[in-house]
Amino acid sequence: MPDEPKCPFQTQQFGRPVDNNQHSQTAGPRGPMLMQDVHLVEKMAHFNRERIPERVVHAKGYGAFGTFTVTNDITEYCMADLFSEVGKKTDTFARFSTVGGESGSADTARDPRGFALKFYTDQGVWDMVGNNTPIFFVRDPLKFSDFIRTQKREPQNHLQPHWRRWDFWGEVPEALHQVMFLYSDRGTPKSARFMNGYGSHTFSMYNREGVRHWVKFHFKTEQGSENFSADEAIQMAGEAPDYSTRDLFEAIEKGDFPRWRMHIQVMPEADAANYEWHPFDLTKVWPHDDYPLIEVGIFELNRNPSNYFQDVEQAAFEPGNLVEGIGLSPDRMLQNRVLSYPDAHRYRLGVNYHQVPVNQPRCPYATYHRDGAMRVDGNGGGTVDYEPNKMGGPKETGQSIEPPMPVYGDGDRYDEFTCDDKDYYGQPKMFWNKVLDEGARERLCTAISNSMADSPDFIREKMLAQFAKVHEDFADGVKSRLEQPESQPIPIA
Ligand code: NDP
Ligand code: HEM
Repeated sequence: MPDEPKCPFQTQQFGRPVDNNQHSQTAGPRGPMLMQDVHLVEKMAHFNRERIPERVVHAKGYGAFGTFTVTNDITEYCMADLFSEVGKKTDTFARFSTVGGESGSADTARDPRGFALKFYTDQGVWDMVGNNTPIFFVRDPLKFSDFIRTQKREPQNHLQPHWRRWDFWGEVPEALHQVMFLYSDRGTPKSARFMNGYGSHTFSMYNREGVRHWVKFHFKTEQGSENFSADEAIQMAGEAPDYSTRDLFEAIEKGDFPRWRMHIQVMPEADAANYEWHPFDLTKVWPHDDYPLIEVGIFELNRNPSNYFQDVEQAAFEPGNLVEGIGLSPDRMLQNRVLSYPDAHRYRLGVNYHQVPVNQPRCPYATYHRDGAMRVDGNGGGTVDYEPNKMGGPKETGQSIEPPMPVYGDGDRYDEFTCDDKDYYGQPKMFWNKVLDEGARERLCTAISNSMADSPDFIREKMLAQFAKVHEDFADGVKSRLEQPESQPIPIA
């Protein structure tokens, strides 16, 4: 049911009561409209400006507020205040999304899911902007926008043929690991409640002694993994395209609060130099046997937003929002994301996006930023607006103990990855051999061949060559399905 309005009668936006909201002002009962109808003009002008640009990726999403509770002491790795004692609680917000579709597209599309968490800590906002996969398609940000275009619409006819993605993936073998995740059963999760979340990148943590470890974040669903079959997902896209949005909202409304158990994997800083897998390569996991999961706490969602646009559409996450104790790593993708997100927010929401309540820190904060469009937080009032000063303005704390990040080498464009068969196919092999059972392998082959049905032969061939490097059965499974009459491609014009 709608909430009670703040005022019992309707007003214009500056408070004047509206005497008539049914009939525009006209010159006589059948005459033309009057320009002086301030109420009509205000109403139409506001309506024309109601839409803001949607997110260029992750446009379709839903979210909720919650609480994070520490269940295990990790202070030997991390000095962040939010992890300082078992039982400590921190307010949170989460937004879940699909990646490629527009804001009105179906929740159940085969697509990775965004898993973006905001922690309103006593020392500032920490954003954990992850996905429901521990890896990604590319490992250099130069390839990101090209990859995303393959998921979007074709320039000439605004259609979404699938051959574009297979053409790209055929040229980019590092994508195969994530491609296999995407076309496996977990490519179509039922809703956010039934999927895991991952920070995906390697981050760092440091303790009060200034000792750094590399870490990966894992949020395991306590509801269990549940997925739509490929056919169900397609059916739901037609019958209930907002299925997952509704699922989370209704669960929270009835008090069935979803939970995820947060874990970290921890690698001593020195291990990175010699670890079998490149530790800053976003297309790789760290196998659990090498770096076991260490429990940290429980992330629970327990309050629905009071207004979708205010809290969910205007939410702005950024991987660079870190708190003392959590740091970056040399992962190229992560380094780039630190720049891209605030840049996108300034375009989408405006320079003062940090003032929107869902984005605001819940701790005291004082910057020297002033002015800009839609400044509504007092703008610093009469306080001094430059630094350094002897006018009582806020000063730096001088207290950061983040250990310096060693860097070396000449500036150049390096291909630092191994780019051999083990690099491209080693972990996809582990996924095929160890994680998928026979039924899951069959479904993977079917989902891939269905998606490749519109791909011409030369694209099919380059993908089949990649699948064969994982396992002959994988290539054969896709090939035999592609040879069925219904999988013959329509020639590309
Ligand atoms: P483990 O055997 O220790 O664990 C397998 C992992 O696979 C679990 O985290 C499981 O999640 C997850 N999983 C199960 N089914 C799927 C699926 N359809 N899509 C994606 N993930 C799935 O694995 P290792 O750590 O030894 O790694 C072996 C392979 O497992 C890796 O090459 C990688 O492909 C995959 N994997 C590894 C992860 C990691 O962080 N090490 C994370 C996810 C996948 P759950 O426990 O929730 O069922
Ligand atoms: C959203 C860029 C990689 C997860 C976005 C947005 C941009 C962007 C511009 C829209 C932001 C907005 O308008 O609010 C990039 C770039 C990447 C990258 C340049 C690589 C170089 C990744 C990776 C992940 C990820 C690897 C997951 C591990 C997300 C999520 C959102 C998002 C979850 C939606 C956040 C929300 O709910 O508001 N990304 N992205 N992105 N991205 Fe990325």
